[in-house]
Amino acid sequence: MTTLLIDNIGSLVTNDPTLDAGPLGVLRDAAVVVEDGRIAWYGSRSDAPAADTRLDAAGRAVIPGFVDSHAHLVFAGDRSEEFAARMSGTPYQAGGIRTTVTATRDATDATLKSTVTRLAAEAMRSGTTTLECKSGYGLTVEQELRSLQVAAEITDEVTFMGAHVVPPEYADTPDDYVDLVCTAMLDACAPAAKWVDVFCERGAFDVDQSRAILQAGIARGLQPRVHANQLGPGPGVQLAVECNAASADHVTHVSDADIAALAGSNTVATLLPAAEFSTRAAYPDGRRLIDAGVTVALSPDCNPGSSFTTNMPFCIAVAVREMHLTPDEAVWAATAGGARALRRDDVGHLAVGARADLALLDAPSHIHLAYRPGVPLVAAVLRNGEIVWQTNEVTS
Ligand code: NIG
Ligand code: FE
Repeated sequence: MTTLLIDNIGSLVTNDPTLDAGPLGVLRDAAVVVEDGRIAWYGSRSDAPAADTRLDAAGRAVIPGFVDSHAHLVFAGDRSEEFAARMSGTPYQAGGIRTTVTATRDATDATLKSTVTRLAAEAMRSGTTTLECKSGYGLTVEQELRSLQVAAEITDEVTFMGAHVVPPEYADTPDDYVDLVCTAMLDACAPAAKWVDVFCERGAFDVDQSRAILQAGIARGLQPRVHANQLGPGPGVQLAVECNAASADHVTHVSDADIAALAGSNTVATLLPAAEFSTRAAYPDGRRLIDAGVTVALSPDCNPGSSFTTNMPFCIAVAVREMHLTPDEAVWAATAGGARALRRDDVGHLAVGARADLALLDAPSHIHLAYRPGVPLVAAVLRNGEIVWQTNEVTS
């Protein structure tokens, strides 16, 4: 089996707590050896073993690839006018989702596939090597199943979100829609998904409806995650903890009791700074969550309504500037935190045997991800040890 030495790394983020080098386990003048798509060795470059091939990092910083645990990529249509109206004062409302539902239902399979492929490639070029993808703009049995099949073209982290909003045809009978989701829709869709998610929010699903949907998904082998407390205070975070959800996402409006529940649980709080940015909402206080002992992840929440970006470095910069995370905390949340939010231990960090998913930065350290907002610093991306994208400047 051919081995690859990534040599001359100026600064290597490992997220290895055993190195006694801070939470990010940062090594200077480091090297990594990759074998069979996995990390075989990492450490000081002066100790590096021989390998068959060599990639010169030329003093760049290298980090684990970003783990994006929250994306809604299966959609059609454009809501830029809604964004423009928001910037003139119109508030964001859950009901805007229905605009995308109409366009998605009308789209061909080929159109949906080309959109998810394009957006996944866009995410990868900004350093994302693991990506979750939700359904939720079909909202019929056939359309939700189709969305999951399209999502599976780009990832194994496929999430059923038939409970995104009540579709127009059930506007007067929302409980009938919940019954459909809990029976025929999940019967058809559960085999095509790994996760079940629900938008527990005013204007979407209340706590009893959300609990019923999550439990119906769990009964069919899916693992829960929850869109919680995005638009106002509510029961979503507590429901996520009650269900042992992998993640409560948004977590924008939280009480002390919500934070205490998260801190005492296995549920990650996934912060989505681009959603507050694009809806002109107040940012959650990430500092308060971290200081209370909550495990925090970051994700762009790419979707056509509240946050149309795939760019994790942008989220890191906003999380540092507006949510009061340190640069180290934000980079951890975008890598190891995302992995925790997907209950994965093979991505988001370096360890012998972990996936060789790495991003090389045109920067001397990971801090530049926040320090140089908006600058495309990702020079190369490796997934399973293969270079899947690089600028002209990275050479063997
Ligand atoms: O995560 N909150 C619910 N879902 C998306 C928004 C979807 C939309 O507006 O189309 C979100 O922000
Ligand atoms: Fe979302």
